[in-house]
Amino acid sequence: MKQYKIAVIPGDGIGPEVLAEGVKILKKIAEIAGAFEFDFTYFPWGCEYYLKHGKMMDDDGMERLKGFDAIYLGAVGYPGVPDHISLWDLLLKIRKGFDQYVNLRPVKLLEGAPCPLKDIRREQIDMIVVRENSEGEYSGAGDWLFKGKPEEVVLQTGVFSRKGTERVIRYAYELARKTGKTLTSISKANALNYSMVFWDQVFAEVGREYPDVKTYSYHVDAASMFFVKEPQRFQVVVTSNLFGDIITDLGAAIAGGMGLAAGANINPERKYPSMFEPVHGSAPDIAGTGISNPLASIWSVSQMLDFFGHEEWGKIVLEAIEQVMVEENCLTPDMGGSATTEEVGNEVVSILSKLVRTK
Ligand code: NAD
Ligand code: IPM
Ligand code: MN
Repeated sequence: MKQYKIAVIPGDGIGPEVLAEGVKILKKIAEIAGAFEFDFTYFPWGCEYYLKHGKMMDDDGMERLKGFDAIYLGAVGYPGVPDHISLWDLLLKIRKGFDQYVNLRPVKLLEGAPCPLKDIRREQIDMIVVRENSEGEYSGAGDWLFKGKPEEVVLQTGVFSRKGTERVIRYAYELARKTGKTLTSISKANALNYSMVFWDQVFAEVGREYPDVKTYSYHVDAASMFFVKEPQRFQVVVTSNLFGDIITDLGAAIAGGMGLAAGANINPERKYPSMFEPVHGSAPDIAGTGISNPLASIWSVSQMLDFFGHEEWGKIVLEAIEQVMVEENCLTPDMGGSATTEEVGNEVVSILSKLVRTK
């Protein structure tokens, strides 16, 4: 039987709570499908680990992760450890180290999901954001000169390589072509007079190879406005690391909230493991209270199943998420309910079993 080796990094805050429910779903699916199984290996890395050992992951951590088929991550970051340390030494280290240069973040209003926009039809919010995930504004290049002195200077340099820009844009064109969707590039060349002028140029250059793909280009400020006013303008969206980070929280807000938004960090060449995680963070404000919404981390399980080529199972997971929201009687407080994280996870498992029986 095919066995998938999954590295589980629960991380901090609500990370472990929501991940436990996603693992339940994977186990249930393996049980029902009967054709494959999952072997989970847990890694205790995160802020608590840092406070004990002075590092976010073991020294040979990346080496050990290399052999897995996928990484399933909860969230990283907690008060007590500076965010730029915890994130750079764990989450960003994995994204960059494993060249997961495509961050796929669906912004899709599922059936039953709450939406704060008025007069909106569900089909009008249905996009996939392809976020550059390896460089750009997140290159980490810079300096801090004359620290604490009056002449203090801080530099944070965006790095947009031709290779890095071209490959993510090409990925988005391919996706748009394959799915017959439009492609929108989000940039900001009016103000960022090197990086984003270059981005737009590459978008146009690569586009010449895809005359069949209808394209649009927006500045990130205008795009943010259209996300709220006319989200139906967007189908496949490609954008830089930082812009992608920001607009996908906005996307989450219009499509069910942070508790529902999922993301996949993909190494398209499959040379290294890809990583699946909710878009949200460790939510220290509600951590430990048992009320975090596990649906985002369950949606990322659906993305993992798609990635493994089990799209039929990925689809059933999404259907189960939709059903739990349509039924409305087992939801966490962020979705207006009073259920616990675990109750929602159990409900999705039970709906899954029913869905499979009726198919
Ligand atoms: P956050 O996403 O953790 O929280 C923002 C708000 O959304 C909070 O009010 C929180 O309660 C709510 N929320 C988030 N997920 C939820 C869920 N599943 N169910 C219900 N409510 C939910 O963002 P933040 O507060 O900016 O960051 C907190 C910490 O997480 C920081 O250390 C930050 O660096 C880190 N972070 C990590 C990741 C990641 O690991 N991928 C992503 C974002 C932030
Ligand atoms: C995300 C997060 C991360 C990012 C942070 C925690 C570094 O906000 O995954 O959206 O900016 O990529
Ligand atoms: Mn983010």
